[in-house]
Amino acid sequence: MIIAIDGPAGAGKSTVARLVARFLGYTYLDTGAMYRALTLKALRLACDLSDPDRLSALAAGTEINLTNPAGREHPAVSLDGVDVTDQIRTPEVNRGVPKVAAVPGVRAAMIRRQRELASSGGVVMDGRDIGTNVLPGADRKFFLTASLEERARRRKLELEQNGYEVSEEEIRAEIARRDKADQERPVDPLVRAPDAILIDTTGQSIDQVVELILFYCRPSAQK
Ligand code: CDP
Repeated sequence: MIIAIDGPAGAGKSTVARLVARFLGYTYLDTGAMYRALTLKALRLACDLSDPDRLSALAAGTEINLTNPAGREHPAVSLDGVDVTDQIRTPEVNRGVPKVAAVPGVRAAMIRRQRELASSGGVVMDGRDIGTNVLPGADRKFFLTASLEERARRRKLELEQNGYEVSEEEIRAEIARRDKADQERPVDPLVRAPDAILIDTTGQSIDQVVELILFYCRPSAQK
């Protein structure tokens, strides 16, 4: 089965997707991590993030790989053969990533790779445009949301665990800005696929959401 999970920043997609994949014995593919890794490379090379040609060329010449080491919260991400897992979730990358992800040439390269990775099936893929564009034929599609307040609270915790002190207000502003950019970009915007099951995770525990998704994924459930 192919399972697509989309939604705005901090809705809990990656945590939930990873657990669903583990339960089903599937591969978890975090497409946001791919855009983040490319953004990190662009920042390191001091690329102009408003230069689409430069970013498209960069994407074409970059190798990004995702693996799921046991016991790790996030998948391991390698950028041109070097592990960058701990470097892609910084405030700088958060700020830059929507610009990089809005470039059509970047998306084309990433989506090609994402479809390749999903081609053997048995995957849970999360992102913004998985159910609408990357894998429109997915067997199950979910759209996860939560209130802005709750998403900011979760992101603050995650950043604190990584050693970053950022105020909840700043995080709320950053998330809102990123959502707006993702929703309003002309290519592959963040939008719920008409056939995606909507799950509002506000006030729900991770386990509750995972259980709900697994319930909808049981073989007898209607698509
Ligand atoms: O973890 P969080 O929800 O904050 O974001 P993410 O899934 O790591 O994605 C980071 C950024 O990558 C998003 O804000 C989008 O700009 C971009 N992205 C995208 O455009 N398309 C995807 N399929 C996945 C991510």
